[in-house]
Amino acid sequence: MCHAGRMRIGVLTGGGDCPGLNAVIRAVVRKGIEVYSHEFVGFRDGWRGPLDDDATALDVTAVRGILPRGGTILGSSRTNPYRHDGGVERITQTLARRGIDALVAIGGEDTLGVAGRLYADGVAVVGVPKTIDNDLSATDYTFGFDTAVTVAMEAIDRLHTTAESHHRVLIVEVMGRHAGWIALHAGIAGGANVILIPERPFDIAKVCEYVEHRFATHYAPILVVAEGATPKEGTMAVREGDVDAFGHVRLSGIGTLLEKEIEARTGKEARTTVLGHVQRGGTPTAYDRVLATRFGLHAIDAVHEGRFGTMTALRGTDIGLVSLAEATGVLKTVPPQRYAEAEVFFG
Ligand code: F6P
Repeated sequence: MCHAGRMRIGVLTGGGDCPGLNAVIRAVVRKGIEVYSHEFVGFRDGWRGPLDDDATALDVTAVRGILPRGGTILGSSRTNPYRHDGGVERITQTLARRGIDALVAIGGEDTLGVAGRLYADGVAVVGVPKTIDNDLSATDYTFGFDTAVTVAMEAIDRLHTTAESHHRVLIVEVMGRHAGWIALHAGIAGGANVILIPERPFDIAKVCEYVEHRFATHYAPILVVAEGATPKEGTMAVREGDVDAFGHVRLSGIGTLLEKEIEARTGKEARTTVLGHVQRGGTPTAYDRVLATRFGLHAIDAVHEGRFGTMTALRGTDIGLVSLAEATGVLKTVPPQRYAEAEVFFG
């Protein structure tokens, strides 16, 4: 199926930003205009754009030079239109008023979840998966993940040398929400002595054993902890965070809790580095630029061919389309056998 005439297409980026968003926007717009002669409108700040009818022109000039730039020229937000009275009607009215035939929604689980619901409500939409967390089950990788892992790995490399000088335990807290992918990959790439992930509640006594063993072999331990990691029930006190518009708890703080507990139990000095949004900022790696560009090219092909309600997905080295419903159904978490590979290097 191929769309015969010129289309007017809206583009938006929602959720936490990540390196590579601009590369997608550029690929969608360049191919859409140069190959298919379509027209584009950029909606600002994710779903807030069509909700509030806040849009900007998106032509080839607007996307010049943005390939290596982090963030998103369109802005982002965690707006959930289904939390606003008449949210869906406001969006469909904006689309009708502006003569928009289709939307390209670039986002993670939440943004694509909304895209799937809007598709069911009659909106022509194609999704592109992004998230540094790499937690979407329908795609092998999301762009942004490789950059986040690279940033964390470089930080771990630097922390190794200062940890050795001061005979300290250095803890690196990384993002990833409820999936341990960033911690796992950064920890393996950076040669961490312990990696703690949400999928495997940790035993603080065992963690302290690893720490002591590491000192006994005359090295200083580096612990990588995912922000969503938790201790086994009843072994350590933890805090509850605030909740956002999609019902997600705001994470962060486990590194500091670990620091105190390790100091108390081992008598060794421990310090925490929370990498936070550093992992999401700045220029994308080559891998992420290529993946983002390919996703953009396939997304505009999908729009042109009228294959709505789908999302681009990487399977091996090929890019295909999966249904949005399938894409957002299940969170992709670290399987036990993948964690076991890393455990060989613990302690
Ligand atoms: O989903 C991406 C992510 O960076 C998570 O790893 C993290 O938990 C969350 O977003 C942080 O969100 P915010 O930027 O709203 O603090």
